[in-house]
Amino acid sequence: MASAGHIITLLLWGYLLELWAGGHTADTTHPRLRLSHKELLNLNRTAIFHSPLGFLDLHTMLLDEYQERLFVGGKDLVYSLSLERISDGYKEIHWPNTALKIEECMMKGKDVGECANYVRVLHHYNKTHLLTCSTGGFEPLCAFIRVGYHLEDPLFHLESTISERGRGKCPYDSSSSFVSTLIGTELFTGLYSDYWIRDASIFRSMGRLSHIRTEHDDERLLNEPRFVGSYMIPDNEDRDDNKVYFFFTEKALEAEDNAHTIYARVGRLCVNDIGGQRILVNKWSTFLKARLVCSVPGTNRIDTYFDELEDIFLLPTRDHKNPVIFGLFNTTSNVFRGHAICVYHMSSIRAVFNGPYAHKEGPEYHWSVYEGKVPYPRPGSCASTVNGGGYRTTRDYPDDTIRFARNHPLMYQAIKPAHKKPILVKTDGKYNLKQIAVDRVEAEDGQYDVLFIGTDNGIVLKVITIYNQEMESMEEVILEELQIFKDPVPIISMEISSKRQQLYIGSASAVAQVRFHHCDMYGSACADCCLARDPYCAWDGISCSRYYPTSTHAKRRFRRQDVRHGNAAQQCFGQQFVGDALDKTEEHLAYGIENNSSLLECTPRSLQAKVIWFVQKGHETGKEEVKAMSS
Ligand SMILES: *[C@@H]1O[C@H](CO)[C@@H](O)[C@H](O)[C@H]1NC(C)=O
Ligand SMILES: *[C@@H]1O[C@H](CO)[C@@H](O)[C@H](O)[C@H]1NC(C)=O
Ligand SMILES: *[C@@H]1O[C@H](CO)[C@@H](O)[C@H](O)[C@H]1NC(C)=O
Ligand SMILES: *[C@@H]1O[C@H](CO)[C@@H](O)[C@H](O)[C@H]1NC(C)=O
Ligand SMILES: *[C@@H]1O[C@H](CO)[C@@H](O)[C@H](O)[C@H]1NC(C)=O
Repeated sequence: MASAGHIITLLLWGYLLELWAGGHTADTTHPRLRLSHKELLNLNRTAIFHSPLGFLDLHTMLLDEYQERLFVGGKDLVYSLSLERISDGYKEIHWPNTALKIEECMMKGKDVGECANYVRVLHHYNKTHLLTCSTGGFEPLCAFIRVGYHLEDPLFHLESTISERGRGKCPYDSSSSFVSTLIGTELFTGLYSDYWIRDASIFRSMGRLSHIRTEHDDERLLNEPRFVGSYMIPDNEDRDDNKVYFFFTEKALEAEDNAHTIYARVGRLCVNDIGGQRILVNKWSTFLKARLVCSVPGTNRIDTYFDELEDIFLLPTRDHKNPVIFGLFNTTSNVFRGHAICVYHMSSIRAVFNGPYAHKEGPEYHWSVYEGKVPYPRPGSCASTVNGGGYRTTRDYPDDTIRFARNHPLMYQAIKPAHKKPILVKTDGKYNLKQIAVDRVEAEDGQYDVLFIGTDNGIVLKVITIYNQEMESMEEVILEELQIFKDPVPIISMEISSKRQQLYIGSASAVAQVRFHHCDMYGSACADCCLARDPYCAWDGISCSRYYPTSTHAKRRFRRQDVRHGNAAQQCFGQQFVGDALDKTEEHLAYGIENNSSLLECTPRSLQAKVIWFVQKGHETGKEEVKAMSS
């Protein structure tokens, strides 16, 4: 060994330190696990569908858990993909415009790309058919797609004989903002409905009820809106009281100091609104809207507002009247950039619509609360038995009610999020968040909402947030960062299937599926599993595996999980490696020669772990920490 006297053997000790996730050292900016596109494929955790035609230009997706298909609408095509394995057994409808139609479109001054047929609507229509609408080369149209009623039924074709004009049902172009929802046979849309993409409106069409829309060019109703989502949410058991909610952003007239201020909005109407008798004929007579606020309380009482609504997700609960609403926002403030997620309960939304109306006496006046007499029936309420039943339809409403609704579409109060602050804020500029889907999970220590957040660079973040009642603070834990697409492309659509524990993710050119969890990856030790704090996973006595809240008591005895605190010391007491496992999961010994280089591994699997190397010169001397060269 030290024979030559001047060559000294070095002993290099490497320790892998797993940081306390629950304590003050918890690191919220790094995910616990980061999985590359390749790793996800190798683990068989994802599958990817690429269009065999080489292009997709995805615009809409429809999840059908009953038929076990994912329907995807793109440029000149509709696909039916298998929910089980998205890359296998696809069916295709090729649906280009005719040469004549393309020619006509180009004569109007549009280019070839714009004159393609972009599929923008896909809804379940009845047991055998989907409703689809497309831009048709600046001449929108709607048609039905025959799908198999039974799983084995391989039908998937366009009923080309029954197509109809799509104005008000689908935009003329492929890129303007658009939302739609089908209620029974009535199609509700929020869109720019004309050739020039100027006429922003909310429409109802197709069904038994009369066609109806918002008034033309009334900036009090809609002022350059960008539509984000629309959903029917019942108020009670009386179907006549059902309401449709539209989520959008628009230029806020009431932000008097700055004409360009954008606010996020919730707009609402009665499903059975058929307009007024003398005023608002064939126009919505129950439309109301309110500001949707997502802000962080600041020092000096100056709050930071996130006003650009990017995505909305409705988490269903057992009570179909009260889904939990998740909003993903960004801020365009020139002071700083960032994203936030806020949660809203229906009770606070309803309270604002039942509250005071906003009022402006005239051009010279400021916006204020309306303090005068509110007509009966209350403007914005539906013609239903719940509302006294005195009115069969909105056409029977007194002119006062209709006129008031027309002049006071805005509510005075804003809708505030649960806990009056976001559940998640990202201002580090590392991720641009675009899409959100949520799964509610039962864990050993309670219920958690797992957020799946799609970014603009092909990544999905899996995050939980934990509210601390005493501190009134929110802790976020990034469980996983998943590089779904090989290329850093924006995620434009996400559908979630809790039943299948799969997330379906669309980019412009491909569709991917990814399983919610892969518990093995956290490591097999009890401490590794507990520190992961993944509500889907628990240590089962042997490995880190899927946690089922309903499993038998005998099996449960061995279960170790602590999502709230990640307290592995307590959970894994008496297990192998306890004590040790917390601060010394692994130890490596390497030999080296002085003045020569040795490679010291320093990237642990878990991004919340840390590797520290110590060097010992000879056997007698003490260990010294090796400091990484700062580069
Ligand atoms: C290693 O390098 C240092 C400085 O470069 C020198 O002082 C020392 O003698 C060298 N040791 C051996 C064993 O070569
Ligand atoms: C991958 O997962 C699918 C189900 O999603 C399964 O059918 C297939 O057999 C798996 N392949 C491998 C190699 O495990
Ligand atoms: C579903 O709707 C389509 C289009 O209107 C119609 O042709 C078909 O008969 C309907 N199917 C059922 C089962 O009602
Ligand atoms: C914020 O959201 C709007 C609407 O989706 C989008 O146009 C804008 O690019 C977003 N800004 C950032 C910085 O992500
Ligand atoms: C340094 O190490 C490399 C390989 O580990 C060896 O080839 C080389 O001879 C060593 N140099 C000295 C000066 O010991």
